[in-house]
Amino acid sequence: MDAREFRDAGHRVVDLLAEYLDHIEEKRVFPDTEPRTTNELFAEPLPQDPTTAEAVLNELETKLIPYCTNVGHPGYMGLITPSPNPMGIIADFICSALNQNVGAYSIGPSAVAMERRVVRWLTDLSGYGPKAGGNLTSGGMMANFIGLKVGRDAVTGDRAQHDGVRESWAVYTAEERHVSVDKAVDCIGLGRNALRPLPTDANFQVRIDALEEAIARDKKGGIRPLCIVGLFGTTNTGAVDDIRVLRSIADREGMWLHVDAAYGGGMLLSHEWSMRDRGLELADSITIDPHKWFYAPLDAGAVLVKDQDRLTASFGIKPSYLTDELDQSNERYQYYVHGFEQSRRFRSLKVWMSFKRYGARQIGEWVDNNVRQAKHLYALTERHPEFEPATIPPMSAICIRFNGPGLNEAESKDLHAEVAQRVERSGRFWISTTELKGKTWFRINPVNFRTRQEHMEELFHFLQQECFAVLRKKA
Ligand SMILES: Cc1ncc(COP(=O)(O)O)c(C=O)c1O
Repeated sequence: MDAREFRDAGHRVVDLLAEYLDHIEEKRVFPDTEPRTTNELFAEPLPQDPTTAEAVLNELETKLIPYCTNVGHPGYMGLITPSPNPMGIIADFICSALNQNVGAYSIGPSAVAMERRVVRWLTDLSGYGPKAGGNLTSGGMMANFIGLKVGRDAVTGDRAQHDGVRESWAVYTAEERHVSVDKAVDCIGLGRNALRPLPTDANFQVRIDALEEAIARDKKGGIRPLCIVGLFGTTNTGAVDDIRVLRSIADREGMWLHVDAAYGGGMLLSHEWSMRDRGLELADSITIDPHKWFYAPLDAGAVLVKDQDRLTASFGIKPSYLTDELDQSNERYQYYVHGFEQSRRFRSLKVWMSFKRYGARQIGEWVDNNVRQAKHLYALTERHPEFEPATIPPMSAICIRFNGPGLNEAESKDLHAEVAQRVERSGRFWISTTELKGKTWFRINPVNFRTRQEHMEELFHFLQQECFAVLRKKA
């Protein structure tokens, strides 16, 4: 591909995407398609011969773009994937062109410096001091894994990373945790049964009495408490645990405190409902994902550690082929000795460019709009005799449920699933369903700067209409 073809293709892509974003609201949220149809579209053997960039882009226009889930559509209120901000989209293009590998200083000196600055912005936002550090990760899953791995190493006196896990340990978290915590407990060698999912109170915050009981029971049975995973914005309802109390229990028991703010970290930017006073800075490590509520395109998660030397203690292995002979004065920051991943995409570029273009103030206004929308839906639901909200939404995630007459729980589950399918088929919105305290709910989460209040009203109207339609059909 010569420079001319690159330029022509690039201009065409920019035009295509500008048009796509400009008309996104007119599109269906979820495409009118089935898995078999989309699989067939791509069913071809490995291409042996070249073709033109123009022909490749033509194929994208017919096969890929029409069958995307348009997460930037204002009606997308589903799993936590934001409307990507346009500056971040441009950043990803540049990122691939430069292909800086932030794993090692020698493959991206300015990129490493920018990444360190972005980590600093995130640690400052979280309330950490100058000793803090971190990594940008593929997402919250990887960040939770790294947080727990660093915690395991710290609590075992840096033995587990050499000798493996010898004793029986337990990790404590609320039943409302994200499944990434279960996977992380497995991956650090404790096994999933070492996780103690604890009941929550009416606000879906972890019950401290249950935590104390579980720790006492484990200690009696010879199991040592390793880590508490506090939740700062649960996936279902945005609940925030009492981090201060978790800190004091962790201190008393010599445990690590990791806090999962993958989604809730966005509230650090909020102007109206700021959560910067909730004690997040008391955590030993934090998960916070710019690709969730900072509206950065995938992927850009982050793990932050209060004392960045802990990262080095966990990951500081230097193989000879990576030794940087030119680093005489130890000034060349090597991410590979301060993190799990080796080759790493230059994820911070889109976070840096987004903060520069919009400023934290504008992004905070988007966050506040999403919270306002959730609270509006709460108010609508509360007034309706047949609908019930799970709790007042502290963030943008809200769960509501239809309590139609004569439905037992199994029928209610079927009804919610069928209505969610109808929502998807309508092309107007996308929401999911979930389970809370043994009941089924619609889970609605605008993480989207295009969503407006009227969309919540339209969604609620649609839900009422479809819930009653399904009920009538079943009668
Ligand atoms: C609270 C929480 N933690 C962790 C994750 C996992 O993040 P990711 O999907 O970026 O790996 C999610 C995903 O929604 C989440 O809501």
